[in-house]
Amino acid sequence: MKNSIYIDILKEKNNFNNYFKKLLSSQLSTTYLEKVMEYSALNGGKRIRPYLVKQFSLIKKIRSTNYNRVSSAIEIIHSYSLIHDDLPSMDNDDYRRGKLSAHKKYNEAQAILAGDSLHDLAFEILADKKTCNDTKIRIEIIKYLSKSIGSKGLAGGQSLDLIYEKKKVNINEIKRMYLMKTGALFRFCCISPLMIANSSKKEIAFASDYGNFFGLIFQIVDDFIDINGNKNNIGKTPGKDIKQMKSTFANYYKNQNIKKVCFKLKSNFYSKHKYYLNKWKKLDKILDYLISQLN
Ligand code: IPE
Ligand code: IPE
Ligand code: MG
Ligand code: MG
Ligand code: MG
Repeated sequence: MKNSIYIDILKEKNNFNNYFKKLLSSQLSTTYLEKVMEYSALNGGKRIRPYLVKQFSLIKKIRSTNYNRVSSAIEIIHSYSLIHDDLPSMDNDDYRRGKLSAHKKYNEAQAILAGDSLHDLAFEILADKKTCNDTKIRIEIIKYLSKSIGSKGLAGGQSLDLIYEKKKVNINEIKRMYLMKTGALFRFCCISPLMIANSSKKEIAFASDYGNFFGLIFQIVDDFIDINGNKNNIGKTPGKDIKQMKSTFANYYKNQNIKKVCFKLKSNFYSKHKYYLNKWKKLDKILDYLISQLN
């Protein structure tokens, strides 16, 4: 029997995609550049980030018009990061989500510009009053996203990922790089609904830890499937991390041990955050589901 969280994620993916398609078509016309943008944002994807945004939004009873716009901005940023990640000067992958990556389907220059323009579109969407009526909170959200994806977050982590190729890097440095390149955007997914709801500092601190932890495990799973997956089920070229001599957790832990390591990390995380993980049980189940993928 399929895990109930897995089924829930699939259902929410369809809901989000319906909203997202409409929003994008209202924002983009049919220029060459906008076609590249649309191709990259709508070409599949698990939509796990919108799923997390929704879970925190439901806890805080945020309206769907608000959280769907936040989720859209996040998926748009994520799509930009994937276009750039696949470029020849970065990971050089010809495939993404089972289709040609943007620079292969179109060309490198247009792919770079589509990434840039998606990045800008995300901020345009967030800046609109429809995202959050309170101007002060809206500015805080924009500031927080900027911080999450710049040199101290996603882009900084991507820079380290490339610098760490073919290098002996210790596990703490790898962890820090994961938290930046992947964790920071997940952290934003968890915190942004709480910002809209004007939540307490304690709840925000929990959401921050949860997002970081989720991102760390998510990247460990991504690295695991790079080694153990095939092109059909991962939709990108498998085996690239070893070939490109990336620094990953897999350099430290064998396949058989990685699940145990993650459950140990989870148990420490649970001990620290028992109160919220018992109060909001689904968040706990989502972490278990994530780790269960390490098979
Ligand atoms: C891939 O993210 C990049 C990482 C941060 C590991 P996802 O695995 O969420 O990619 P899609 O959106 O489902 O294609
Ligand atoms: C990418 O990590 C993280 C991003 C911020 C895009 P990877 O390079 O491992 O992602 P994939 O495997 O290409 O999706
Ligand atoms: Mg990469
Ligand atoms: Mg990559
Ligand atoms: Mg990967």
